Amino acid sequence: MKILLINGPNLQLLGVREPGIYGADTLPAIVAHLRETAAELGCELIDFQSNHEGDIIDLIGSAKEKGVDGIVMNPAAYTHTSVAIRDALAAVALPAVEVHLSNIHAREEFRSHSLTAPKCIGVVAGFGADSYEWALRALVAHLNRKPV
Ligand code: DQA
Repeated sequence: MKILLINGPNLQLLGVREPGIYGADTLPAIVAHLRETAAELGCELIDFQSNHEGDIIDLIGSAKEKGVDGIVMNPAAYTHTSVAIRDALAAVALPAVEVHLSNIHAREEFRSHSLTAPKCIGVVAGFGADSYEWALRALVAHLNRKPV
């Protein structure tokens, strides 16, 4: 099983970026831990971070050709703005789980609305770096349940 992990803008700064909100873990540390979880679950993890909306859209659009079975994505600020990423998720129709380190519903009003979540099977938010692990476990459980 192949899982695509997508991290959106500014997440390359995790560790130094507002640690009171996003925690002290760096993105490489989060990805390394997620790779261990992926190995435990018997799946391959392809990881990608970009600050560019178009690059994320290109990647989602080519996910099926790459043999991807499901997507774990933290769209970061694009969560709240990107009709185009939402449309890309709808177009590929791969199961996706949206991730947020912070509880977006407990912050500024504009963060409580996600344009991308309606095209995902679920959302995990508010557990810091652990949000990624729960999202991956939930996605793999969903894929294993799904009749082929
Ligand atoms: C975030 C929440 C977003 O509102 C914010 O723009 C981010 C990170 C999170 O993981 O908590 O960049 O997606």
